[in-house]
Amino acid sequence: MCGIVGYSGPQSAATPLIEGLRRLEYRGYDSAGIALGVSGKLFVAKKAGKLANLENALDSSLPIVHSGIGHTRWATHGGPTDRNAHPHVDNDGKLAVIHNGIIENYSELRTKLEIRGHVFTSETDTESVAHLLSDLRKEHKGDLAAAMRDAVNVLRGSFTLVAIHADNPDVVVGVRRNSPLVVGLGNGENFMASDVAAFIEYTKRAIELGQDEIVTITPTSVVITDSDGKLVTPKEYEISWDAAAAQKGGFTHFMLKEIFEQPKAVADTLIGRLSDNGQIVLDELRMTAEEIRSLKKITVIACGTAYHAGMVAKYAIEKWAKIPVEVEIASEYRYRDPIIDPGTLVIAISQSGETMDTLMAVRHAKAAGARVLAICNTNSSTIPRESDAVLYTHAGPEIAVASTKALLTQMIAVYLIGLHLAQANGQLSDDQVQHLYRELLELPGKIEQILETVEPLRELTRSFSENNIVLFLGRNIGYPVALEGALKLKELAYIHAEGFAGGELKHGPIALIDNGTPVIAILPAGHEHALDEKMLSNIQEVKARGARVIVIAEEGAHVEGAEHIIRIPIVPALLQPVLATVPLQVFAYEMAVARGNDVDQPRNLAKSVTVE
Ligand code: M6R
Repeated sequence: MCGIVGYSGPQSAATPLIEGLRRLEYRGYDSAGIALGVSGKLFVAKKAGKLANLENALDSSLPIVHSGIGHTRWATHGGPTDRNAHPHVDNDGKLAVIHNGIIENYSELRTKLEIRGHVFTSETDTESVAHLLSDLRKEHKGDLAAAMRDAVNVLRGSFTLVAIHADNPDVVVGVRRNSPLVVGLGNGENFMASDVAAFIEYTKRAIELGQDEIVTITPTSVVITDSDGKLVTPKEYEISWDAAAAQKGGFTHFMLKEIFEQPKAVADTLIGRLSDNGQIVLDELRMTAEEIRSLKKITVIACGTAYHAGMVAKYAIEKWAKIPVEVEIASEYRYRDPIIDPGTLVIAISQSGETMDTLMAVRHAKAAGARVLAICNTNSSTIPRESDAVLYTHAGPEIAVASTKALLTQMIAVYLIGLHLAQANGQLSDDQVQHLYRELLELPGKIEQILETVEPLRELTRSFSENNIVLFLGRNIGYPVALEGALKLKELAYIHAEGFAGGELKHGPIALIDNGTPVIAILPAGHEHALDEKMLSNIQEVKARGARVIVIAEEGAHVEGAEHIIRIPIVPALLQPVLATVPLQVFAYEMAVARGNDVDQPRNLAKSVTVE
């Protein structure tokens, strides 16, 4: 939520700032703005709406200066207007600040600052920081970093703040608390951003910042201190993503590109996971076989699409490793007094590694003594940093707000964990594990097969584009797939979509079925259990009430009552979600296109949700 960029170096600052904002626009697109380090008085431009509005407003009068800050907003306090857009500036017009997060004590600060004579021009919580920093900087005789340190001790809430002052325009100062900020180390230039994607085309060297650490960059220096002013030794790391991965590469939308990247993402996540002696290699778990055998329970915490990967974990781990698994929406977890003991392993799943609801649940679990394992796609983000162990997925940057390849790789990660646990606690033989692992290795090819034959589905989808309701049915491990299909459709097509467990239909949801209601049913993989017959009955029940039924079924499976059948390759039942999800992603994508919606940046959403 909200994208932040800071730059100091030899380039005309507007270029890396606007480029950076373009890469971060997925984080919020209610407004965008920049402040450039013009000596004497800052140049500030900001506009409601997408980044393009700001770009159109920037004309040839744009000053060529070498430092600045930029922001793309997901609104919390104050509507998405020009006035509420960041940067916010002090009354001298010399200090500008951008912010991601929420300042919880902003109202109390505002009152105090107004009494001191500051005049506010926006409804945001952020503006109080601009005025506060302005006073503190004067107290510190022009030292912006010292002012930021004092501010951190006054502010409550979660925030990344980045500020600049016209009297020292080369100096950009940032801080983070419960919200992301990374530093990019260039050659004679330095960057700050919410996410490495913002500066990846200029440098692959980055530094992670700890809680409440204050960073000051100039073209040639990076200084980090803690909130007491003590110097901190930087933790540098190499960014493994390449710049091209954050471009559309000929596809019309990032989402479509990311759907088509799934075979590679899945294959990359599987690389090197079986040792020569047939053991699943998951050293990242940092658990001995003895510790695995003493596990009493696993709790998976996650939000949105990642939660659906958690549901897949429940079916797979319980079946293979016979360890009880509960799956919990992260935002609910810490508020219900969950039972946590040293025998509990908590698995936190998050693409971004920054989702505040999941982070807070992680902290709660850790404080209560649980061991926390993160499954994450973003290197050095907060959730893996605060967890005891991390298993990285290798999806590469996921730019579209709707999660696709991240989900498939999360599923692969939970399968690997399930197999590893089952092998360690003796619930599956080495032969069984190796067989399932070989099946996992075949998934990329099978996803490719689905993608090669997706054109008729795209055409079919367009015929449903006027419908305002779509229902999804699944049973067993097809149930999370149904939920995911519905979430994707809500998010992208803005229509009422619900996923149900097939057996629940008769307990209420069947009342929603009317003449012509589209119902998408996921037929369980037929060879491993008899649930497919029950789903076939559900199909008949909805068809009898006028539904238009689309069935996703494996090759060769017997299907009755469907208006359309989408065939997917045969896999062991528990692996089916990896394949069955793909046509539903395409369905949601095509619906969004047909309805003229913004596919990559659906309304009201942001990719990384860093507020609770
Ligand atoms: O970064 P995370 O995986 O923690 O994000 C969790 C959800 O916000 C995310 O999966 C969201 O539901 C997606 N936009 C769905 O496509």
